[in-house]
Amino acid sequence: MTATELRQKYLDFFRSKDHNVIRSASLIPENDATVLFTTAGMQPLVPYLLGEKHPGGARLASAQKCVRTDDIDEVGDETHHTFFEMMGNWSLGDYFKNESIAWSWELLTSPEWLSLDPKLLAVSVFAGDNDAPFDEESYNLWLALGMPKEKIARLPKKNNWWGPAGLTGPCGPDTEIFYWSGNPDEVPSSFNDDNDKWVEIWNNVFMQYNKQPDASFELLNQKNVDTGLGLERVTAVLNHCDNYQTDLFKNIITKTEELSGKKYSDSPEIRKAMRVIADHVKASTMIIGDEKGVAPSNTDQGYIVRRLLRRAMRFARQLEINKTNWLKELAMVVINDYEKVYPELRLNENFICAELDKEEEKFSRTLEKGLLEFNKLNGLSIDGVRAFNLYQSYGFPLEITEELAKEKGMTVDKIGFETELSKHQDLSRTAAAGKFKGGLADNSEETTKLHTAAHLLLAALRQVLGDGVTQKGSNITPERLRFDFSYPEKMTPVQITETEKLVNLAINDKLAVGCEELSLEEAKNTGAMGVFDSKYGEKVKVYTAGIENGPDTANWNKVFSREICGGPHVKNTGELGHFKIQKEESSSSGVRRIKAVLE
Ligand code: SER
Repeated sequence: MTATELRQKYLDFFRSKDHNVIRSASLIPENDATVLFTTAGMQPLVPYLLGEKHPGGARLASAQKCVRTDDIDEVGDETHHTFFEMMGNWSLGDYFKNESIAWSWELLTSPEWLSLDPKLLAVSVFAGDNDAPFDEESYNLWLALGMPKEKIARLPKKNNWWGPAGLTGPCGPDTEIFYWSGNPDEVPSSFNDDNDKWVEIWNNVFMQYNKQPDASFELLNQKNVDTGLGLERVTAVLNHCDNYQTDLFKNIITKTEELSGKKYSDSPEIRKAMRVIADHVKASTMIIGDEKGVAPSNTDQGYIVRRLLRRAMRFARQLEINKTNWLKELAMVVINDYEKVYPELRLNENFICAELDKEEEKFSRTLEKGLLEFNKLNGLSIDGVRAFNLYQSYGFPLEITEELAKEKGMTVDKIGFETELSKHQDLSRTAAAGKFKGGLADNSEETTKLHTAAHLLLAALRQVLGDGVTQKGSNITPERLRFDFSYPEKMTPVQITETEKLVNLAINDKLAVGCEELSLEEAKNTGAMGVFDSKYGEKVKVYTAGIENGPDTANWNKVFSREICGGPHVKNTGELGHFKIQKEESSSSGVRRIKAVLE
C-alpha cells in the first residue's frame, strides 16, 4: 500500500463516518509563541478541544503537515524525520471511546478498507493511577471486538497517556494500536511492549481532562477524541521497508542517486547521507513553501531551515554532488510529489527555488574552507572562540560543528560559543533559549486580550497606512504581542502614535466583540479580513468589534474590525487596558514587525 493510498483511504473512511475533512493548517503556528512549528495534528485544534466551537463541526479529520526539530541530528537512520504527516480524526465533544475504537478497528481490518490481518494487531490501554482510573471501558471495547486479552496490555502513564503538550491543557488516557512488523508466521500470541517488532501505528487519545497549573486534572466540559497516525511510519511498517523506501521518498532518493551517481543500496554511509538530504530538503521545501513561508535566516524558524539546508549540503559533499543549484532540483521533485495534497508548494515554487539557490550559493562558498579549518583542530577540544569562528567565518551552525566533533570524538564548548556570540552580535538565536521543545500556547486571559488587541491593531494600521496592509503573521505570549504586516517602509513616529491612538479609542469605546459562522463567500462579502483560502472547509468564524446591534454582525454600527479567525477573543474591547507599541522594525523585505503590550 502506498502512502498516497493510505492517506486517501484514511480521509475517505472518516468522511464516510460524517467527518469534515479539514485542510492542513500552516506549519507555522498562529498566535503561538511557545513552539516554532506545528508538531501534531491536534495542535491547531487546541482551542476547540478546550471548548471553542469549530466551524467545521464536531467531527473532523485531516492530514496535517508537521515538523519536529528535537532529533535533527538523529535523521539519517531508517525512521527519523523532521517533516512528517500526521493523519488524525477528532471528536469535539461528540463521539467517544466506543466509536473511536470501533472505527479504528474497522478502518484497519475491514476488507473494504485496509484489510490488515487482525492477528498482527495488538493494543495497550491505560492501567490507571492516582490521577485517573484504569481505562476499563477501552479494555472491554477491545475484548468485544475480538482482541484476545493477552494482546491488550495495561500500561502506565508513561506509555498510555497523552498531553498536555505544554504544562497545562487538554490531555487524557490513550489506547495505542500496534502492528507486528516481523515475520507474520512468528507473531507471538501475546503483546509485549519490549519487543520492538511490535510497532505503534495509531494513538487514540481520550481527552477528558484539562491539566491545571497546580498539576491537578480537572474534567473537561466536553469529552474529546484526538487520534494520530504517522503516515511515513505506518506506510513503511505495512510495506516491510525502511521509511525512505516508501513512495513518500522514492522519487527524492532516486533524484539524489542521479545527482550523486551513487546508489542507495551501495553502503550504510551512502544511505545515511541520502536520507539526511532527502529529509532535510523536503522539510526545507515544506517550510519555505508553506502558506506562511519562512526563508533561511539566523532566527526562529528561519534558523531551523538554515540548519537543515546546511546539514544537507555537508552530506551532499560526502556524496560528491558537485552540481550547482542541486537543492532546487530536489525541491522540484518534492513539489511534484506533494502538490496535490499541499497546493501551496506549487504557488510558492519561485520563492522556494530562489531561497534555495541563495542559501546554496552562500554556504557552498565557505563549506570547503570551513571543513579544512575544522580539520586543523583535530584532537583539540573546540572552545567557544573556535566554534564561533566556524560560525562567523564559514557559516557553520553550532550544531554542525557539534556533529562533526562528535564524529571525531571531540567536544565543543557550547556555553563558550553562546558567550562569544552574544559578545559579537546581537543575534537572538532561539536555539540558545531552548525554545525548540514542544508546548502549546496557553489560552490565558492575557493571551486572549492580546489576541483581540492584534485585531484592533490590524484595523488601525489599515486606517493609518492604507488598505495595502495585510497581516503576515503574529506571535503572542502572555506578556506581549508581535505582529508582522506588509508595508514597504519604516513607519514614522506620527504614524505609530496615530495607530496607538486608534487602538486605544477602540478600547475606550468599549466595543462588543461578536463571533459568527459564515460561509467563506459571505465572510468575504461583508468585508472580513483574513486568509481566504479556507482552512476549515465551507464555514469560517468571523470576529467583529463594533457597536452591537442584534445577532447579525453585518448590521452592527461603527464596525472597527472584522476578521476571519479561530478565536478565542474577549467579549468587549473595554477589557483590554492601555495599548502601547514598544517597537516597530523590519521583519523581512516588505514586511514590518510591531511589538506591543497592554498596560
Ligand atoms: N495527540 C496525539 C499524538 O500526537 C494523537 O493525535 O500522538
